[in-house]
Amino acid sequence: MNYQDERLQNIAKTLKKRIVETSNNPDVLRSVEMRALFDELKTLKEEQKASFGKELNMLRQDLTAQIKALKDSDEALPPIDVTAPFDLNIKSSEMPRLLPAEHGSRHPINTEFEKVLDIFYRMGFTVLESREIDNDFNMFEALNFPEGHPARDDYDTFVTVQKDQKGQPLIAPAHTSTMQNRALKSMKKNLEQGDPIALVIPGRVFRNEDLDARHEHTFYQLEGIYVDENVNVGNLISTIKTFLQEYYAKELAVRIQPSYFPFTEPSFEFTMSCPFCDNKGCNICSHSGWIEILGCGMIHPNVLKFAGIDSNKYTGFAWGGGIERLIMMKNNIEDIRHFEAGKLEFLRQFK
Ligand code: DAH
Repeated sequence: MNYQDERLQNIAKTLKKRIVETSNNPDVLRSVEMRALFDELKTLKEEQKASFGKELNMLRQDLTAQIKALKDSDEALPPIDVTAPFDLNIKSSEMPRLLPAEHGSRHPINTEFEKVLDIFYRMGFTVLESREIDNDFNMFEALNFPEGHPARDDYDTFVTVQKDQKGQPLIAPAHTSTMQNRALKSMKKNLEQGDPIALVIPGRVFRNEDLDARHEHTFYQLEGIYVDENVNVGNLISTIKTFLQEYYAKELAVRIQPSYFPFTEPSFEFTMSCPFCDNKGCNICSHSGWIEILGCGMIHPNVLKFAGIDSNKYTGFAWGGGIERLIMMKNNIEDIRHFEAGKLEFLRQFK
């Protein structure tokens, strides 16, 4: 629209801008500027009044048309999504700051734990979470490592300068086995009622290791405990084999080899046929066809006794293994340090 009067031209521009800024508020038609123009009209002489009045009417129509056009286009918008993670009524100029540039994703360790725990849950195990600070008793004594036991050194345990109420140094647990005494004590009532103790314990563990592609100071383990009358090594093998076959969704061969842990007797390394090459030999199993997957054994009678369980009546098995390894093998990940590094380039690949 072109106005003869330059002033009207400018006012039209200002008011049109205001209509947009005030989200289409029709009050612009009754604004100070408009009222001043109409007041001025009354003071004009006949001749000027006619031409100025014509222009003023044009201006009013012009603004009314803009208000109507904006209203129509608003009504044409799709309905508001109330689940949107931002306020849809916000000014569009502020949108980029408020909109999340990218959604995050679940950490692969979380995803994997969920799969693993779900299988054990279906096998009748209950889940108990481990803790990230514990004491010397749970880390060693209750697990049959008396003071000065050489195997204590195998666990590169971080010890803090803080002490618990009994004066024991607080430690960052170096394995989830730290939960065994506590778990056995709290679940003992199951045995009295004629039920087994069947627990899986996921947890974050810490070791003062020399770091490399296979060693990280912080990692995750899954511990398992099963106690009842007449539990034997056969039950241990079949339980873990059942889990592994369910997890890899295929038949596997398994082997156990003698090992040593102070808290199990006998102790074993549990080995499965490589699920990635079906025992033929590949990069993942170092061309041997076999993969050592976890440590396990029959719970040492002393460990049961420390928890107040009659080791003549009850026996049980336990195992513990790392979670990162499972994910690394599945996804061809070459360095365990990726998991704790918080690098988006790594995490984005698990969306
Ligand atoms: N805690 C052991 C480790 O971190 C693994 C382990 C071995 C756990 C045997 C067990 C077990 O419960 O029975 O090296």
